[in-house]
Amino acid sequence: MESIETRSIALIGFMGTGKTTVGKRLARRLGYTFVDSDSEIERRAGMPVREIFQEQGEEAFRSLEKEAVATLAPQPHHVISTGGGTILQAENTDLLKANCLVVWLTATPGVILKRVGKAETRPLLAQARDPLARIRQLLDSRARYYEAAAHLQVDTTDRRPEAVVDEILKALQRSGF
Ligand code: S3P
Repeated sequence: MESIETRSIALIGFMGTGKTTVGKRLARRLGYTFVDSDSEIERRAGMPVREIFQEQGEEAFRSLEKEAVATLAPQPHHVISTGGGTILQAENTDLLKANCLVVWLTATPGVILKRVGKAETRPLLAQARDPLARIRQLLDSRARYYEAAAHLQVDTTDRRPEAVVDEILKALQRSGF
């Protein structure tokens, strides 16, 4: 991994890859503040993500997401858990890469499906007749965006959150973070 001067850590990756669970533990271990871009969006909109999608559509959600990333990315000593589609907008990727060490969490489609369960809170999966096929399709179309945004990739399949946090911390030490 390249050595870069960064002040915060951003977790990117598909739904169900453990960004929130890992992010909270990572923040605790580093003494950083944990923030979640979806929570920031919900706070600003005054409604849950599911309702934003229902009432205003995905485009409106993406625009709120851009505002949230612009606010959160430059803050020092934060661990930012981002929504799975954040890196689809180049402005978000640029801001995150410039201000944070960007860690891409991955998992197999089957494990993702198990973790997201019924997915009522995940509007992009909730309507799918075959959720596993939908996950595969979205992962395929997004892989290049995650790859382009990431400084570091860590797989979370069949691993406890603490083991993932340990791997991230080791990588941070190696990079002189
Ligand atoms: C989305 C992922 C969700 C949330 C929204 C859209 C996506 O966040 O931002 O439902 O496009 O993949 P999580 O990755 O935290 O579930």
